[in-house]
Amino acid sequence: MLRPLLFLFAVPYNLISINTSDCPITYYGQEYTTVYTNFTGEDLFVCFNGYYNPEGNGDCIRVPNTDNRTNIALNNNNDPSYWTGLTDVIHSSVSTVTNNVTCYLLFYNRLVSMLVESSSFLIQTKQTLDQTLFCTLRSILHDICSTFTGHGFGVKPGDTRQIPNTCTFLTCSSTRIPSVKTCGPPGQCDGNGTCLCTVTGPTVIDFKRQMNSVSDRCEYSLLHDQSTGFSLKANFLERRRRDVSFVDSLTLDFSDSEDIQLLQGHRVTVTGSPVTVNSSVQTFSGVDLSKDQTGVTASFSVNGSSVSVFFDGTTAQIYMADPVNFTYDGLCVDSNNVSSLRLSSDTSCQFKYPDPADNTINCSAVAQQCDVLKSAPFSSCNSKVDPQPYINACNETLCKYPDVDGLRCQFIQAYAKACEKSQVNLVIQVFSFTVQPKPVCGDRICNSHEFCGEINYNGGCRCREIFAFVYRQSNLLGGPTVCKDNNASLSLVGCLLNEKSIDYTLLHLNDKNCTGVMDPDSHMVTFGFNGDSCGTKVTETSNQIIYKNGIMTSNGSSEVITRQDEIYIEFSCINKKPEMQTVVFRIQGSTVVQYIKSEVWNYSVTMKAFTDGSRTQVLTPDSEVKLNQRIWVELETDGLNGDLVSVVTDSCWATDNQMSNSTPKYDLIMDGCANPDDQTVYVGGNGEGTSNYFSFNMFRFSRSTGEVYLHCKLQLCAKKNNCVPACSRGVRRRRSAKYRDEAPAFLSMGWSH
Ligand SMILES: *[C@@H]1O[C@H](CO)[C@@H](O)[C@H](O)[C@H]1NC(C)=O
Ligand SMILES: *[C@@H]1O[C@H](CO)[C@@H](O)[C@H](O)[C@H]1NC(C)=O
Ligand SMILES: *[C@@H]1O[C@H](CO)[C@@H](O)[C@H](O)[C@H]1NC(C)=O
Ligand SMILES: *[C@@H]1O[C@H](CO)[C@@H](O)[C@H](O)[C@H]1NC(C)=O
Ligand SMILES: *[C@@H]1O[C@H](CO)[C@@H](O)[C@H](O)[C@H]1NC(C)=O
Ligand SMILES: *[C@@H]1O[C@H](CO)[C@@H](O)[C@H](O)[C@H]1NC(C)=O
Ligand SMILES: *[C@@H]1O[C@H](CO)[C@@H](O)[C@H](O)[C@H]1NC(C)=O
Ligand SMILES: *[C@@H]1O[C@H](CO)[C@@H](O)[C@H](O)[C@H]1NC(C)=O
Ligand SMILES: *[C@@H]1O[C@H](CO)[C@@H](O)[C@H](O)[C@H]1NC(C)=O
Ligand SMILES: *[C@@H]1O[C@H](CO)[C@@H](O)[C@H](O)[C@H]1NC(C)=O
Ligand SMILES: *[C@@H]1O[C@H](CO)[C@@H](O)[C@H](O)[C@H]1NC(C)=O
Ligand SMILES: *[C@@H]1O[C@H](CO)[C@@H](O)[C@H](O)[C@H]1NC(C)=O
Repeated sequence: MLRPLLFLFAVPYNLISINTSDCPITYYGQEYTTVYTNFTGEDLFVCFNGYYNPEGNGDCIRVPNTDNRTNIALNNNNDPSYWTGLTDVIHSSVSTVTNNVTCYLLFYNRLVSMLVESSSFLIQTKQTLDQTLFCTLRSILHDICSTFTGHGFGVKPGDTRQIPNTCTFLTCSSTRIPSVKTCGPPGQCDGNGTCLCTVTGPTVIDFKRQMNSVSDRCEYSLLHDQSTGFSLKANFLERRRRDVSFVDSLTLDFSDSEDIQLLQGHRVTVTGSPVTVNSSVQTFSGVDLSKDQTGVTASFSVNGSSVSVFFDGTTAQIYMADPVNFTYDGLCVDSNNVSSLRLSSDTSCQFKYPDPADNTINCSAVAQQCDVLKSAPFSSCNSKVDPQPYINACNETLCKYPDVDGLRCQFIQAYAKACEKSQVNLVIQVFSFTVQPKPVCGDRICNSHEFCGEINYNGGCRCREIFAFVYRQSNLLGGPTVCKDNNASLSLVGCLLNEKSIDYTLLHLNDKNCTGVMDPDSHMVTFGFNGDSCGTKVTETSNQIIYKNGIMTSNGSSEVITRQDEIYIEFSCINKKPEMQTVVFRIQGSTVVQYIKSEVWNYSVTMKAFTDGSRTQVLTPDSEVKLNQRIWVELETDGLNGDLVSVVTDSCWATDNQMSNSTPKYDLIMDGCANPDDQTVYVGGNGEGTSNYFSFNMFRFSRSTGEVYLHCKLQLCAKKNNCVPACSRGVRRRRSAKYRDEAPAFLSMGWSH
């Protein structure tokens, strides 16, 4: 249908001006009848008010000149049937053009030809309504200002044009430099100007529909606006495996205002303080916050672009509209280079734990399951939202992490939500039968070493694996035993109890009245006893006194059946006689057996000498002591429970130098009793309490330096035994052998005459 009527110009120069009054051009409301062209080799500039001038403000069109052939078609409001074919081509290519094409300019091989519809031409030339002008390069349409290949829209210099169905902004700078801002190909665009980025589990499906995953436990930038400094950050943490991380919390960081955090359990904090959010929108620092059963939504605007962030604890969906003013980067913009967007300065979050692969996972079965997004009911959405990145995210994650806690459902829901945004209605009921449901976590608050996962088909706080690993390795539920100030305590880990469905309120010590106390923050359940309280059994061996108790399941319950494991966790503290030793304690039960090191109650022993019977005048190293002067020596302990233990002075003797085993040696106390051969020695309170004393008259060693060193051996004795040595003047009996230690507490002090 189209035929060149005439070649008007055949000029072998780069610069051509053409009188186009036969086909007048109305460009943004201004009518022009001369066209100035400048072929520069790469580009063709077509201008209407003078030749192209890089500094000038002329109205120009820039068209690439790649194949030396450029068509510029002009249409006006005329309706000659002659032009129907061309009109059809134009209409199918450029949705905004509605009027009919009536004249045509062709720029070919540095030649310009003008085609006009002969019959109607003369009549139509002056009837210029607001004509639309556009460029065609073969069948590809180009923009008025510049080359917006494929978009089919013209943009005037200095203008921006939005194309909602592809979430694209075409901007033409005043110097005719084109720029395209878009969240990516259709699929992550909802068809109404909003781009979508999905972060679910370890995976990020960015605005361009690229899928990549985070493998460490660091914080990442999802969206960062360089012009305002706004940042949306995501923190990743491990769950059941140490080598797979999940998006755990989001931070909205407004450089000049308060940070807002979206946390697990649908919690929100503003500058670190928790705020209560409900279904009605509340505004904090310019951010609209609201919450429904599914999660929390934060909506705000950054330099004219509106952003909405939804987070349900497992999946974050970031919607961004009008990205024209947004000078952004981040994982949502390009997820390809994960490492460059890591924010954490502390590199410990990057440590890779060598967890063995889960050999119960059948990757080909997983791939089949994830492929469900290509079949009904999802197939109806496939043409609008490409399912492949969601399938890849599902397959990649579930090939290394078990399909628990509704993980597969998470990927399917993310796709369903993207479809919903793109106005595709899925028959949701169909897929709820094909995947296991997500555990209902809702507002459940787990602490930082826990996450909400599935426990007995319900949501509950499970342990994060890095925290739990040390316990699991040794098959422990808690510990170690803490022995301090005569108190003994053992803390069990709340989430480990949860995972075994052990209800801590049903646990107690030997005495049923001694139950565990759960710390509301750490979720540690602590059981403790003091001395021999709570049914503690005190036993004595040759070198220690043991205080033993146990955590056990209620057995007095009247229920016929129980769904709890029977548990028995024995723990103990000891008083060393005198050196630290360890004893084992263990959990007995149908499923749980564990061994924890017992701990020791520490105590101190001091020896002081006095010059008076009331023991107030302390003998210092400088004090003068006369021969035959009476001296009182007190052996005092601190930190022992006097109700249960007493201190026995086994023996004291003197030497003339610091070596306790040197000769000559002179005995003051032997086997707990005063040396019967020295009538000046008196022993007081021995074995009765945690302190005792003795007195004697000072002497000196004959033929010696004049120094006297005193050495004593002490022992501990459980009070339920008779600890008081049986002494009688003149007839000394040996005490029970059980007080004889290999290495008793040993003290020395010395005087110099
Ligand atoms: C033609 O275009 C070239 C390259 O942009 C430019 O340098 C030159 O000034 C233009 N010529 C005229 C007469 O405007
Ligand atoms: C454009 O035309 C020039 C001169 O006729 C020729 O040398 C060149 O190869 C052509 N370029 C293309 C891409 O056709
Ligand atoms: C374009 O031409 C068709 C017939 O070819 C006519 O029906 C239609 O009204 C014309 N449109 C305009 C805007 O003139
Ligand atoms: C598209 O977005 C506009 C403005 O946000 C809104 O008014 C309109 O309802 C949306 N259309 C659809 C189909 O969602
Ligand atoms: C908003 O964006 C525009 C265009 O990118 C920029 O010139 C301007 O500085 C930005 N405003 C702020 C407050 O950063
Ligand atoms: C939401 O919370 C606000 C402030 O705490 C309160 O005024 C409002 O009544 C609550 N709305 C609902 C639906 O509970
Ligand atoms: C870009 O930002 C400027 C300044 O904040 C604002 O005036 C303008 O409306 C924004 N443009 C768009 C398209 O949102
Ligand atoms: C990733 O980003 C870093 C830092 O920006 C850069 O050095 C590196 O070359 C990038 N890698 C890829 C594959 O783009
Ligand atoms: C893995 O799954 C595929 C597909 O369901 C099945 O054909 C194959 O037998 C499975 N392999 C194992 C080892 O179970
Ligand atoms: C699924 O993921 C595994 C591991 O990443 C990969 O080896 C496999 O090729 C993937 N299968 C499909 C169908 O994408
Ligand atoms: C020891 O236990 C008692 C009673 O259980 C308690 O009052 C005391 O504060 C505890 N002491 C320490 C140091 O924990
Ligand atoms: C436990 O407490 C109850 C009530 O406080 C008391 O009657 C009972 O004697 C206590 N049992 C033991 C073994 O102390």
